[in-house]
Amino acid sequence: MANFNISELNRAKFVSMVAKRLRVIGKSSDAPVKALASYHANELADALHPHVQFLTVKEIIEHSPDLKSFLLAPDASRGTKSLAWFSAGQYLSIALEVDGQTLCRPYSIASSPRDALQGVYRITVKRVGGGLASGFMLDNWTVGTKVIASAPLGEFTYEPLRDAKTVVGIAGGSGITPFRAFAKAITEGDEDFRLILLYGSRTMADAVFSDEIAEMAEHCDKIQIVNVLSEGKKVKGAESGFITAKLIQKYAPQDEDYSIFLCGPQAMYDFADKEIATLGIRGKFVRHELFGEYFHPEKNADYTGDKDAVYNITVRMAGEETVISCKGDTTLLRAMEAAGIPAPSDCRSGRCGWCHSQLLSGDVYVPESVDGRRMADKMYGYIHPCCSFPLSDIVIDVPPMPGM
Ligand code: FES
Repeated sequence: MANFNISELNRAKFVSMVAKRLRVIGKSSDAPVKALASYHANELADALHPHVQFLTVKEIIEHSPDLKSFLLAPDASRGTKSLAWFSAGQYLSIALEVDGQTLCRPYSIASSPRDALQGVYRITVKRVGGGLASGFMLDNWTVGTKVIASAPLGEFTYEPLRDAKTVVGIAGGSGITPFRAFAKAITEGDEDFRLILLYGSRTMADAVFSDEIAEMAEHCDKIQIVNVLSEGKKVKGAESGFITAKLIQKYAPQDEDYSIFLCGPQAMYDFADKEIATLGIRGKFVRHELFGEYFHPEKNADYTGDKDAVYNITVRMAGEETVISCKGDTTLLRAMEAAGIPAPSDCRSGRCGWCHSQLLSGDVYVPESVDGRRMADKMYGYIHPCCSFPLSDIVIDVPPMPGM
């Protein structure tokens, strides 16, 4: 029997293929290729990842004076003809001009990807005590208000290669919004996993979207919602108290892996993370939505600054230099916004890298939980102003906000 040599076989095939190619090339025209006005790949990339989306408020749903949903439609008059597709769980960064300040704030998309194909994004805005952006939107946005938004962003999405087939969702307050998108996408067949949602609220009256998700659950056995109420009387079918490890174990699958997705305020993360740590779940199965803006650095044991000190911040941007002041407990990004400097930002929590800037001199404090810098960033003096607090006078080089 002849020896079988696979490398010889492949080489023979390759040689015959070369000859065939040369014949085809020899017959083809050598006329210059006509330049196209645009290329399909570029058109697709622009549609999926637009640099900016011009939107308009199409409808407002008032859940309460301090909580509204805004339905946003494309604004063709400014060049946005359709909305970018997204993965459930992503957010939009909304740009605002408030009292001469240029602000960007991230809001999870509460509608489903299929809704975007129908021309609608839904964001839900809750008034935050002292929150400049939320108050402005709730008090000033009306039907027809023009809005500038980013493309959909963020990594709080379901990835079947990484995540388990069952996700225990832990939502707190307005952190329910990405879970509404997940639930809707599951019912519409665009996501395929089982969602067990533990939804923490003070009372049922605060549990926005709870009834709607419960109704989805009635028609879809992949969705389950459990309200967890921290105040008031016991409500039938709801749990009382907080979302503890014991409660997670009560509803999570007993005999298979599960992922935990969390979205809510910082206090909820602080509490829930300690509980989850006792469950021995692998790190890749625990996923957080953005931590949100960081306040009160002075509460950290490793903070060495003076929260009340006021520092000079020299901001270099596009060849111009501006000197502003910043308190020790204020992020550089907030200080720039307050001074009307259009500094770029999206996530505002050290994750996206959009505000990436060079620290030319001085020192900053970056809380460990929001320090998303790579080793090279630290070596070459790059910081994220959205989560950097001054420890001294500072000089930074900041890229201008693109397209704004
Ligand atoms: S805005 Fe995302 S890292 Fe600063």
